[in-house]
Amino acid sequence: MINLKSKDEIDLMREAGRIAALCLEELKAQICEGKTPLELDRFAEEYIRKHGGTPSFKGYMGYPASLCVSVNEEVVHGIPSSRPFREGDLVSIDIGAIFKEFHGDMAVTVPVGKIPADKEKLVRVTEEALYKGIEMARVGNYLSDISHAVQKHAEKNGFSVVRELVGHGVGRRLHEEPQVPNYGKPGEGPILEEGIVIAIEPMLNMGKADVKVRNDKWTVVTVDMMPSAHFEHTLAITKNGPVILTKP
Ligand code: MF3
Ligand code: CO
Repeated sequence: MINLKSKDEIDLMREAGRIAALCLEELKAQICEGKTPLELDRFAEEYIRKHGGTPSFKGYMGYPASLCVSVNEEVVHGIPSSRPFREGDLVSIDIGAIFKEFHGDMAVTVPVGKIPADKEKLVRVTEEALYKGIEMARVGNYLSDISHAVQKHAEKNGFSVVRELVGHGVGRRLHEEPQVPNYGKPGEGPILEEGIVIAIEPMLNMGKADVKVRNDKWTVVTVDMMPSAHFEHTLAITKNGPVILTKP
């Protein structure tokens, strides 16, 4: 069952999204060679709490941190470490904040210094794929129209889409129904209606789509060790079209 959100609930979710987005802006500005994921994580937890929120991820199924920081071949769910970033790294940061019970969930991928052209293209196409998906998040469309749009854009550009992880409904829980895959045929699944709030989160690989989980039980990495990128927004479906909630 999909939990539909009222106008007032969506307004609260916009506050949660704003806290996550403002924090992520700060984090992006801090990313440079020598910075460590743990430093970002400490900053994020403090920032979220100072702004009246609670980190969504900390303690979620035993997850130990407030951020996921996934570097290069790490796809998602990287546990922040003390290993400093290096020039040319591709860093995905995933952040979630709870405000008055509601979650906001988002992610971006950013380069450290100068990165090679193929990594740059991967980042650009992944973000574009997210917006292709968001564009389809309209009343009357099918859920899989979103999935199809993401997959089409990724594959047209020579990248592969991770299948094992999906976007999701967002609300009082971080993960609600429906699941939002990043691949599929159009015209399937539930028809989108006003009040549905979802996170769309394409994960694109430069090489093959296959992923595995490291021994730490969290970090998802590409099997072929090629780089991966991840972008995510939480958005509400309204009669005026998709409204991104994770915005500063
Ligand atoms: N944005 C991620 C997701 O939707 C974050 C979950 S990380 C976790 O799945 F550690 F909290 F699980
Ligand atoms: Co998510």
